[in-house]
Amino acid sequence: MYLSILNCLDLVFWFAFLVTRSFLWRNLDFPTSLRSTTSRQMAGEGKVVCVTGASGYIASWLVKLLLDHGYTVHATVRSLDDPKKTEHLLALDGAKERLSLFEANLSVEGSFDSAFNGCVCVFHTASPVTFASLDDPQMELLDPAVKGTLNVLKSAAKVQSLKRVVFTSSLAAVIYGYKPPSGVVDETWFSDPVFCEQTKLWYHLSKTLAETAAVNFSKENGLDLVVINPGFVIGPILQPTLNFTSEAFMSFIETGKEVFADGIYMLVDVRDIAIAHILAFEKAEANGRYCIVGDVVRSSEIKMILDKLYPDLGFSQRYKDKCVEAQLYSISKVKAESLGVDFTPLEVSLRDTIESLKEKKFMKL
Ligand SMILES: NC(=O)c1ccc[n+]([C@@H]2O[C@H](COP(=O)([O-])OP(=O)(O)OC[C@H]3O[C@@H](n4cnc5c(N)ncnc54)[C@H](OP(=O)(O)O)[C@@H]3O)[C@@H](O)[C@H]2O)c1
Repeated sequence: MYLSILNCLDLVFWFAFLVTRSFLWRNLDFPTSLRSTTSRQMAGEGKVVCVTGASGYIASWLVKLLLDHGYTVHATVRSLDDPKKTEHLLALDGAKERLSLFEANLSVEGSFDSAFNGCVCVFHTASPVTFASLDDPQMELLDPAVKGTLNVLKSAAKVQSLKRVVFTSSLAAVIYGYKPPSGVVDETWFSDPVFCEQTKLWYHLSKTLAETAAVNFSKENGLDLVVINPGFVIGPILQPTLNFTSEAFMSFIETGKEVFADGIYMLVDVRDIAIAHILAFEKAEANGRYCIVGDVVRSSEIKMILDKLYPDLGFSQRYKDKCVEAQLYSISKVKAESLGVDFTPLEVSLRDTIESLKEKKFMKL
């Protein structure tokens, strides 16, 4: 009798466990990127790596996941005196034991020397990000992106222990040219700098020129460079201030104002991008560039998902779909998946973006 009660309790326990597990999996409460990496945890034990522009949106997640994987992280910020740029990093798990902050500026040659000392990998993410019209694009965007990247690589080239540089480029360096994207776009596509300059796409020009400069410098100086080309990044925010793209996406959610005039979004979760950077270092066979885009969708599809998740936003009543029905294309996932990137479903990324914006009180719902 006693035994059969125990057996019953066992059965109830296992049933509850299996139902909960399948619920979590099916309801996608864990982003896939984080699920798939637990087995690689502590791969970084004993390894020192550096992240430039560490207080930024993507870099903060990269620092967090590197610490979670056991790495010792050197993180560069522009000012050590600004708590908004440092406190969220210092509060990360493992930061007390394995995170050191360094001050470095892209416009100062040699600025990154001490941060790179003893590192096996440099993750170069720092670059100004804005699509706004600028008084002086050369000084505000192009110089920090291009000359700044060369400064970073010159510092990296001096480091004996360095095995690889992972450079954060963008889809902005892939698809912008006189020929609009169509069919399947992959890593063989390159944005045209003349087109970017003539159409005043300064950010796109900065990323295109910076990637070319990075590839050329690395070839000439024997650096092993792997390039990550993310689409438009969404997902939860770790830093306490809004970065440019999260602010633009929040404005789209709140007002319906398109971030991209053609109403087409190449979206990817920030956690998938951070993992892609780590895989680009850890996989010895990684090479060249990697387009990392989870979904290419029209804004109408985003609004439909948001309407389902948050009916109070009133997307179905508030906005008529004004987007021009430009021809949709796709971004190849072949290389990204060969790297091991396991994309987070769009619905999860959208939900986590909104929950994070609400939690940080940027957005009221
Ligand atoms: N977000 C996207 O959708 C997206 C998509 C594709 C590629 N990317 C690329 O990903 C990288 C990170 O973007 P993000 O969205 O995370 O932007 P972010 O939050 O604005 O981060 C950019 C970082 O670069 C730093 N930085 C800018 N100018 C600098 C300078 N002169 N010296 C030193 N550091 C400087 C910033 O420092 P401060 O905090 O001091 O300003 C910040 O930490 C960029 O290379 C961007 O081009 C972003």
